[in-house]
Amino acid sequence: MMRSCNLPSGAAMPVLGLGTWRMGESARRRAEELEALKYGLDLGYPMIDTAEMYGDGEAEEIVGDALAGRTAKPYVVSKVYPHNATRSGTIAACERSLKRLRLPRIDLYLLHWRGGARIEETFEAFHRLRDAGKIADFGVSNFDLDDMQDAARIDKGLNGSNQVLYSLSRRGPEFDLLPWMRKRSIPLMAYSPLDQGGLLRKAALKKVADEVGCTPAQLALAWLLAQPGVITIPKSSTLERVKENFGALDVKLAPEILRELDRAFPPPNGKQPLEML
Ligand SMILES: NC(=O)c1ccc[n+]([C@@H]2O[C@H](COP(=O)([O-])OP(=O)(O)OC[C@H]3O[C@@H](n4cnc5c(N)ncnc54)[C@H](OP(=O)(O)O)[C@@H]3O)[C@@H](O)[C@H]2O)c1
Repeated sequence: MMRSCNLPSGAAMPVLGLGTWRMGESARRRAEELEALKYGLDLGYPMIDTAEMYGDGEAEEIVGDALAGRTAKPYVVSKVYPHNATRSGTIAACERSLKRLRLPRIDLYLLHWRGGARIEETFEAFHRLRDAGKIADFGVSNFDLDDMQDAARIDKGLNGSNQVLYSLSRRGPEFDLLPWMRKRSIPLMAYSPLDQGGLLRKAALKKVADEVGCTPAQLALAWLLAQPGVITIPKSSTLERVKENFGALDVKLAPEILRELDRAFPPPNGKQPLEML
C-alpha cells in the first residue's frame, strides 16, 4: 500500500500520481501517451492528475481509455477552467469531464486557478456536485496564501488540496503557504516536480543523486515525498521514465543528504509570490 495523505474531509489521497499536461495535444503521440498511462497504472501508480484544459479535453479522453476495463480504478483528480467556474458552468464542465473520463465520480475536483467567476459561486457548485455524488472532494490550484485565506473564509469546509508549482528549484511555498496548509491538514500537490525537466540538468542534483545511488529525477521526487503533507504528480510519456519515477518511493533520504540539498537549493528566507506555469 502506498503512503497517503489525509484530506480535511478524512479521505485518503495517495502521495504519488501520474501527471498528464501536454498529453492529448498531438494525434501522433497519442498511442505512446496512452501506453505510458496504462504502464504506470500496471506498475501501481494509484493516482492520475488531469484537467479539462489539457489537450482541450483530449488528455481526459486518454485517461478514460487507460482506465477502461480496469476493476481497480486509481484516484482521479481533474480541474475546471476558471472561465467555466460559474455556478452552472462548473457543473456542466464536471459533467463533460466525467463523460470523457467515463467515470461516475471524480475523486478530487479543483479550480485550476483563481480568476473568471467568483469563488463563492464555484464553491457552491462544488458542494452541489459533491451532494450529487459526482465528486468526492474539491479543492483549488495555484492559490497563494492570501487566496487560501479568502477560500477558507468563504468555505470553512474547504476540504481538498491546493495544487501549486513546487520543486527543489522552486521552494517559495515553504515560507508561508505550506506551513499554513499543514496547520489545517490540507495537502499540497506539487506540480512540475522536475521543473519540466529543467531541474534534471543541474549538476548539484546529479552530484547528490550519485551519493544517494539514485537518479536525479528520483532524488527530486523523493525530496518532495519526504515532506509531510506533500503529494506529487510527475508526468512522463516514456515507459522507462514512468518506471524510474515510481522508484522514487524506495529512495530514503538521510538527514545529511537533506542538509546537502538545502545548501544546493536553499529554502526561501522571505515571502516569494507563488509562481505559476
Ligand atoms: N495545476 C496546474 O496549474 C498545473 C501546472 C503544471 C502541471 N500540472 C500537473 O503536474 C504534472 C507534472 O508537471 P509537468 O508536466 O509540468 O512537469 P514535470 O512532471 O516536472 O516534468 C515533465 C517533463 O519532464 C520529463 N521527464 C519526466 N520524467 C523524467 C525523467 N525521469 N527523466 C528525464 N525527464 C523526465 C517529461 O518528458 P517525457 O514525457 O518525454 O518523458 C516532461 O517533459 C502535469 O503533467 C500536470 O498534471 C498542473
